[in-house]
Amino acid sequence: MVLDKGALDQKQLEQIAVAARLLRRGGIVAFPTETVYGLGADATNTDAVQKVYKIKQRPVDHPLIVHIGDMAQLDIWAVEIPEAARLLARHFWPGPLTLILKRSAHTPDCVTGGQDTVGLRIPAHPVALELLHMIGPDKAIAAPSANRYGRISPTTAKHVRNILSDKIDMILDGGACNIGLESTIVSFEDDAVFLLRPGGIPVSAIESVLSKPVISYQNKKTAVRVPGALPSHYAPATPLQLFHLPELVQTAIKLAAQNLRVAVITWSDADVSQFSVPNVQHVRMSSDPVRFGQHLYAVLHQHDQAAIDYILMETPPELPAWLAISDRLQRASQAHL
Ligand code: TXA
Ligand code: MG
Repeated sequence: MVLDKGALDQKQLEQIAVAARLLRRGGIVAFPTETVYGLGADATNTDAVQKVYKIKQRPVDHPLIVHIGDMAQLDIWAVEIPEAARLLARHFWPGPLTLILKRSAHTPDCVTGGQDTVGLRIPAHPVALELLHMIGPDKAIAAPSANRYGRISPTTAKHVRNILSDKIDMILDGGACNIGLESTIVSFEDDAVFLLRPGGIPVSAIESVLSKPVISYQNKKTAVRVPGALPSHYAPATPLQLFHLPELVQTAIKLAAQNLRVAVITWSDADVSQFSVPNVQHVRMSSDPVRFGQHLYAVLHQHDQAAIDYILMETPPELPAWLAISDRLQRASQAHL
């Protein structure tokens, strides 16, 4: 991926320099990546990383992704790196792919949740890359998504401000995230590559680089702690349910008749006049999965802010390009059962 670092103006560079100083002193900075906003701490500073867990209200045994600034850092944080991992890193970094690798002695326990592996990625956002460059090659940024544990990730600085502004030292604003869904996470065992979380890089793209299939996490026997793999996760505070079209319309009308305020989100070319009833707000999203993914969290955040009782969503198509979206929506819909 080619990034235009020249796109950063003087004011942004100054703010990134302030953020880098804060991180080096143990501060907590929210920053943009191409996927979602991260809640960053110096990955080599245990106290700072613990603050992230506390702010996010995340159990301490759930590991954080370590964001690195260049390929040379891969061998500082990980050991026994399989050739397949190097191939994927060369191909997709900077980009929305996280590699789970055997940790090195340099990797502190606080970022691994006590596991013997570490999650690494180089993010593809000019602000994130400049921040990593400014904190220096001896450091990296441990960052989960900048939301409370179990909730949907922020894709704008405003989303972060709404949830966490009084708890952190700084929010770097880099605009709306280009991808809008979290990174794809893969792990390696013997010769096999496993998908732990579908995300910004489609599985088909990974398979075509590897020239072999990626095995779904569900088919893996050993248990790895991946909180995104809990059934209920990535959920808005407002109850969300998935329905196919005829049922979607009937449910919306039924709830609205009970004086409940309902948001209906569709992607197909459903007849929108069906939703022109009191108490129903209809949002038509793109039928293109890339555009849908870019806007999904923003739409959900918007409805969480509004006085809505139910979010009813049209079930996404069962196609590979919709895998990450289906995964997040399935989990969101489990939260309020
Ligand atoms: O796109 C993203 O990945 C964003 C941006 C900020 O980079 N980050 C993100 O972080 O989504 P978080 O913490 O919300 O989700 C990271 C996932 C978690 O489910 C975590 O358990 C998993 O990565 N993970 C991290 N290190 C791991 C490890 N060593 N083994 C297994 N899973 C790991
Ligand atoms: Mg998260």
